[in-house]
Amino acid sequence: MKVLVTGGAGFIGSHIVDQLLADGHEVVVLDNLSAGSRANLPTDVKVIEQDVASDLTPVFAKERFDAVIHQAAQVGVPDSIRDPLHDASVNINGLLQVLEACRKYAVKKIVLASSAAVYGTPIELPVSEEHPLIPLSPYGLTKKTGEEYLRIYQALHGLPYTILRYANVYGPRQSLSRESGVITIFTDRLCRGEMPTIFGDGTDTRDYVYVEDVARANLLALSGGDNQIFNVSTGSAVTLNELFFALTDVLNDQREPCYGPPRLGDIRHSTLANGKIRRAFGWKPSVSLAEGLRRTVEWVKSQS
Ligand SMILES: NC(=O)c1ccc[n+]([C@@H]2O[C@H](COP(=O)([O-])OP(=O)(O)OC[C@H]3O[C@@H](n4cnc5c(N)ncnc54)[C@H](O)[C@@H]3O)[C@@H](O)[C@H]2O)c1
Repeated sequence: MKVLVTGGAGFIGSHIVDQLLADGHEVVVLDNLSAGSRANLPTDVKVIEQDVASDLTPVFAKERFDAVIHQAAQVGVPDSIRDPLHDASVNINGLLQVLEACRKYAVKKIVLASSAAVYGTPIELPVSEEHPLIPLSPYGLTKKTGEEYLRIYQALHGLPYTILRYANVYGPRQSLSRESGVITIFTDRLCRGEMPTIFGDGTDTRDYVYVEDVARANLLALSGGDNQIFNVSTGSAVTLNELFFALTDVLNDQREPCYGPPRLGDIRHSTLANGKIRRAFGWKPSVSLAEGLRRTVEWVKSQS
């Protein structure tokens, strides 16, 4: 299959590219390299350096993709609050450019990266795909809107889609910016001999899913789960304290964590149910937290 991966030079996108290549697919990446890097990809992968929120029809006319895996996005929740116009221009206009090109050039499948952010504050745990969608940020809203566009393009133009709502994804290649995941930030600080701050008392929980498991879900969605929505998660709640000590275990670091005041607006608990994707694809998380942290630490150390 010839597959376009938008945002393919980024953290999750580059792992998707690796698995597509390993499965023998032909891959093209479209990325403006605003957050991603060419270094995340094998040198022989074709990278089109272009803004996803621009006219993509010339690219689609030339390349004739069978499927699109859409990862390119403005990914920061705080950034979306600071600059909702930019967030919408990438996450809505960018998706629309992709959808219009898919429609004109008869793409057979689109897979969309969505997020737990579409749910807002959970009213029950673990959060299933049927949970109400009450996002708390422009980012959550643009992801929710993107999902609705897919539904509408399928209904109007017959474009099959699968939506994957990721929990907290972690692993090698997550870039170190202020929007990084907590695991990357903690790992980086600890590796540099600094002490990360746990905001609150460390009992907040999250669902940390390893990046290669997320990539595998994307590949499965290329050939199944048409017009459906799936959480991609472990279904397990891990407290910040547990995370900290699991990480210091890997690093053989005996220090105690340092605590700061809770951050306003942080959700206390978030875990996503994964029964639906297990049943549909036989997918299950295959990398334990301890193993995922070990691989992440190895990667962070290799970067310095
Ligand atoms: N990392 C997570 O925990 C997580 C959780 C839920 C959902 N997601 C979603 O997964 C997808 C991938 O996220 P990631 O964590 O790999 O982030 P990332 O920033 O590493 O990857 C995003 C990629 O998109 C590219 N990009 C950004 N704006 C672009 C534009 N205007 N035109 C072209 N390319 C552009 C970036 O350069 C980058 O390579 C995103 O859609 C994100 O919203 C991520």
